[in-house]
Amino acid sequence: MAGLSLPQKAIPPKYFYDAAGSRLFERICRLPEYYVTRAELSLTRLHIAAIARFAGRGCELVEYGSGESMKTRLLIRALRPAAYLPVDISAAALQQAAKQLAQDFPWLKIVPVLGDFSRPIELPAPRAARHASRAGRVVYFPGSTIGNLDPEEAHAFLAMTRDQAGRMLVGVDLKKDANVLHAAYNDSRGVTAAFNLNILARINRELGGDFDLRRFAHYAFYNAPLGRIEMHLVSLARQRVRVAGHRFGFERGESIHTENSYKYSAEGFRALAAAAGYTGKRLWTDRKGLFALHGLTAV
Ligand code: TRP
Repeated sequence: MAGLSLPQKAIPPKYFYDAAGSRLFERICRLPEYYVTRAELSLTRLHIAAIARFAGRGCELVEYGSGESMKTRLLIRALRPAAYLPVDISAAALQQAAKQLAQDFPWLKIVPVLGDFSRPIELPAPRAARHASRAGRVVYFPGSTIGNLDPEEAHAFLAMTRDQAGRMLVGVDLKKDANVLHAAYNDSRGVTAAFNLNILARINRELGGDFDLRRFAHYAFYNAPLGRIEMHLVSLARQRVRVAGHRFGFERGESIHTENSYKYSAEGFRALAAAAGYTGKRLWTDRKGLFALHGLTAV
C-alpha cells in the first residue's frame, strides 16, 4: 500500500518470491540470455579449491536468498560444512531445497531459516562449541542478490552480517556492455516478463486485487548513471485498480518500479564493503569477466 501510494509507484522485489515466482526465477536462471547464473557457476567451479580454503573447511555456512541452493552444492561438496543454514523468504523454495539437499548430502546438518533479510534477522545459535564465535561461520550471498538492494540497504545488510560471521562470500554482477545487460533482463521467451507480472497476479491472489495483467507490460532498461538495471511494470492504459479496498489510479505509461539490479566494478563493490566494516581479501571472476565473487573478512 505504501509503495503504490508513492509518486513513483514501487513494490519491493522480495514480494516476487512466492512459490510461482520462485519457480519462474529458476527458469530465468536457465535462459540463454541470462548469463549471470552460468557465469557464477563457472567461476565457482574454476576456483572452488581456493574458495573453499578461504571459507575454511568445516565451517557453518549461512546462505541468504538460497532459493534452490544450486551453486551451493559445489561449495557443500568442497567445504564439508558442519552445518548449512539456508535463509529464504519463500517457504516453498526453502522446503524443496532442504528436501533435495538432505537426499544428496545425507551427512549434512541442514537448518532452514524462513525469513526476510531486508530486516535484522536472528540466526539459530551455532551447533557446536567450536563454532560459538562468529569466526566459525561464513555467510554466502551469491546470485548478485546484493545488487537488488539499494546501496544504503546493501550497507545495512553487510553491517548486519558482520555480527554473524567472520567471513563472507558475495557474488556480484560486474558492469558491462549495456546491450548484454538489456538482453539478460528482456529475454526472448518472455520468462522475465512473466516473472515481473507475477507480482500483480500475487496481489490479486493474496490481497484481493483486480489488476488486469493484460493492461501492464514488463519494461527493463539499464540506467547507466545509477549503474543499475531497473525493472518496471508499465500501465498500458489510464486505469484504476483496487487492492484490498484501496483504489490506485494509473496514467497511461505510468509505471510501478519493481526492482533494481545494481552492477558493481570490483573496486566499487570493495568500497561499499569497506564502508560496512569488511576488507575485500579475494576476488574471483569467470573467464569472460562477467561476474565476480568477493571474499570479504570482517575488520
Ligand atoms: N539477483 C538477480 C539479478 O539481479 C535477480 C534477477 C534476475 C531478477 N533476473 C531477474 C529479478 C528478473 C527480477 C527479474 O540479476
